[in-house]
Amino acid sequence: MKYFIANWKAHKTIFQSVEWIQNFTKYIKASPSVMAGLSQDKIQIIICPPFPYIPLLHQYAVSMKTLHGVANVYVGAQDVSQCKDGSYTGEVTATMLQELVNFAIVGHSERRANFKEEDTMLQNKVSNLAQVEIKSILCIGNEQESIFENASIVAFEPLESIGSGQNMGATEVIRTKQGLKLHPGQAFVYGGSVTSEDCIQYLQSNEIDGLLIGKASLDPKEFARIIEVYGDILKG
Ligand code: PGA
Repeated sequence: MKYFIANWKAHKTIFQSVEWIQNFTKYIKASPSVMAGLSQDKIQIIICPPFPYIPLLHQYAVSMKTLHGVANVYVGAQDVSQCKDGSYTGEVTATMLQELVNFAIVGHSERRANFKEEDTMLQNKVSNLAQVEIKSILCIGNEQESIFENASIVAFEPLESIGSGQNMGATEVIRTKQGLKLHPGQAFVYGGSVTSEDCIQYLQSNEIDGLLIGKASLDPKEFARIIEVYGDILKG
């Protein structure tokens, strides 16, 4: 099974997000190999939009299943508060997200760098999510960063590869994975400048459980193409 995680970061208007999901649904439905992979639980798609678009996209993800027969499409959050519900103006807590998302990204390098997020804070976020059964996608930029036991997915995103067009080759990604202290059952995904042109190297490996995709996920066609590369591998 492979995860395809779209991280939109701080991009798109609400209108553009609706356009995206409508087009994406069309592309996915047009691909028999992707449709088969989704219904056989071999593909999971997780769309992580900015917070305000989550309820709407959640509705679309539900209707993709009920109206279009497209299974295994989920919405995820790009972040969550380290706080529990309470007097914390402006925070979005795990409890608020529990009926809307199945996954949440934690510790993206952009949050670590720009918002000074560090281990204690990130551990709280992952624990808060686990308490409401939202799966954490914990991002790490190098082998030194902590891997919390209750994170479901570990996303390895080398700093120099994010948004740079310089992805790390699958061989090196796998070598890095071997040096990590992953906990039993944790999935391992790669992120950093992945496109439909070069994703096959990661998707062919049993060591890599999926991809976290930033820029290339902003275009629904390009994101669908990446998933289709895996559909073709499944088809053989
Ligand atoms: P990128 O972003 O695909 O644009 O490099 C990946 C990420 O930051 O999650």
